[in-house]
Amino acid sequence: MCGIVGYTGTEPAVPVLLDGLARLEYRGYDSSGVALERGSRIDVVCETGKVARLAEALGVGGGAHEAACGIGHTRWATHGRPTQANAHPHTSCDGAVALVHNGIIENFAELRRELEAAGHAFRSDTDSEVIAHLVEESLVSLACVDAADDALADAEGRRTPHDGTAALAQGRPSILARAVHAAASRLIGSYAIAVVSTADPGVIVGMRKDSPLVAGLAADGAYLASDAIALIDHTRDVVIVEDGQLIELGATTLALFDASGSCLAPLEPSPVHIDWDAELTEKGGYSDFMLKEIHEQPRVIRDTLAGRLVGDSVHLDELALTREELNLLDRVYIIACGTSYHAGLIAKNLIETWAQLPCEVEVASEFRYRNPIVTPTTLVVAVSQSGETADTLAAMRDARIKGARVFGITNVVGSSVARESDGVIYTKANKEIAVASTKSFLGQVVSLTLVAMMLAQTRGKLTAGQVRLLFSELADTAEKVEAVLADATSVEAAAEACKDARSALFVGRGMGSAVACEGALKLKEISYLHAEAYPAGEMKHGPIALIDEGFPVIAIATMSPTYDKVLSNLQECKARGAKVIAIATEGDDEIARHADHVIAVPSVRDAFSAIVASVPLQLFARAIAVLRGCDVDQPRNLAKSVTVE
Ligand code: F6R
Repeated sequence: MCGIVGYTGTEPAVPVLLDGLARLEYRGYDSSGVALERGSRIDVVCETGKVARLAEALGVGGGAHEAACGIGHTRWATHGRPTQANAHPHTSCDGAVALVHNGIIENFAELRRELEAAGHAFRSDTDSEVIAHLVEESLVSLACVDAADDALADAEGRRTPHDGTAALAQGRPSILARAVHAAASRLIGSYAIAVVSTADPGVIVGMRKDSPLVAGLAADGAYLASDAIALIDHTRDVVIVEDGQLIELGATTLALFDASGSCLAPLEPSPVHIDWDAELTEKGGYSDFMLKEIHEQPRVIRDTLAGRLVGDSVHLDELALTREELNLLDRVYIIACGTSYHAGLIAKNLIETWAQLPCEVEVASEFRYRNPIVTPTTLVVAVSQSGETADTLAAMRDARIKGARVFGITNVVGSSVARESDGVIYTKANKEIAVASTKSFLGQVVSLTLVAMMLAQTRGKLTAGQVRLLFSELADTAEKVEAVLADATSVEAAAEACKDARSALFVGRGMGSAVACEGALKLKEISYLHAEAYPAGEMKHGPIALIDEGFPVIAIATMSPTYDKVLSNLQECKARGAKVIAIATEGDDEIARHADHVIAVPSVRDAFSAIVASVPLQLFARAIAVLRGCDVDQPRNLAKSVTVE
């Protein structure tokens, strides 16, 4: 949610910031801006709309901006509409402080009242602007303290360097760092911030609480960002700023401080190495990232399974529970949001069928505000592509307080979900750029399938032979997904037939019902076509009233124990004029009598049907979005990483 970049070094800052913002644009894109610090002045340039408009406004290449220190932001509006005034960076009254912020300041109204009463003039409706004014206040008070200190030091014949560069060289925080620390102590809520000030030229200060922030040092300067993707062209060694830490960047220095107490205590930064391929951030010949990522799915399945079958057992050593502890479990909770929640729905079927353990799947934002029955014998599985979803993190924390063991399934190494779990499985999807999740979803489904197999085997519900067979069939799904991707003609024909619809229903039973939920979500988020998912058997209890001539019903009708029931439901829809699109198993001759369009997928056992059936639905949603002229990779109002509640 929103993107932050910062650079201080020897190169002109504008191209660096714009490049970083473009890479982060998938996180939020309703306005953007930069603050360029040049000694005694800070220039701020903001634009509504995408980063390309900001680039135009900055006249890149014109050499108008020589600053070698600056911060930038791409916004996903929370407080205040996406206008130029609400775009970040925000500045203090005197223009000496500029700040960008991700997150939500919950006590901003109260702070704003207090600051206005003290004479501060606000220019935006955002919660973030209060931080710039708080830093300004702190700078004034600290300058007085430092002046008194300097006078005393002079009298005693010693020197205390307060300017940022000199202080940093001695491992001491600059006045800006101290001011940011003091300002942050007033904040309630979540934040990742980056601040520059004329009080400390060439210095950028970053601080975080519940919103990601990373930094890195390269030959040409120091970089800060809310996502490592903005840094990897400059350095692969990235310092992950933890909650309650403050980071201070100089052109050749990077200092980390523990900011949880009343003073800033120096810490030794320990960078982690990012080994993503830079090509991941390019489209590689595809017209959009979503299509590219859909096509990466066979590789994701193979990579997620690599090394997981050892002998006849599924090995998930990262989960660090003993056989005894696994046997004591009496309930599984899967907590997640959006697409990740749908992956959980699929896993519930497998965990209950194979491991015979009761499994609940719950939307994290609901879980955290009820009082679910969670005990030390509950296994909580938190599923999150980004690993930074605020609701999922809060739900995990609640579960841990209640004594549950928490496993994380995430795509992002070093993310908050990874760091706060007792054990973590990485989905091996690699960076996902398109806002709509596709390859991450498949990675989650495959990882959760492994968890279900491991639980079943450990608890003696599946034999070694059964596990071996299931694993080999699961591995075969990679090839089957390749087959689906090889010919999308039937998907395109179905999309053409539905592109002008105003609404659509997705139906299925069992596994198909969970796949329907994901299909409907994909369609609505990228094509803005209203879509709903229903268990097929529920149609007659209400939604069937929606159906009239030509109303699209997309049915997951692959071979399963409830196949005949789904056919009956489709007949009911057809009888009322529905246009039926069926995702069906190759070789099914019957289905054509019940559907206007058949999209065939290779035969797999029902347990793995979600893997092959969800791929054509991703292609279907994308094809409709393209036909309707929508921005496939950056749909309106959405953001890739939802770090606010
Ligand atoms: C939909 C989508 C979202 C996310 C949801 C949770 O395509 O991507 O619904 O699945 O915001 O995000 P993560 O998985 O990062 O916790």
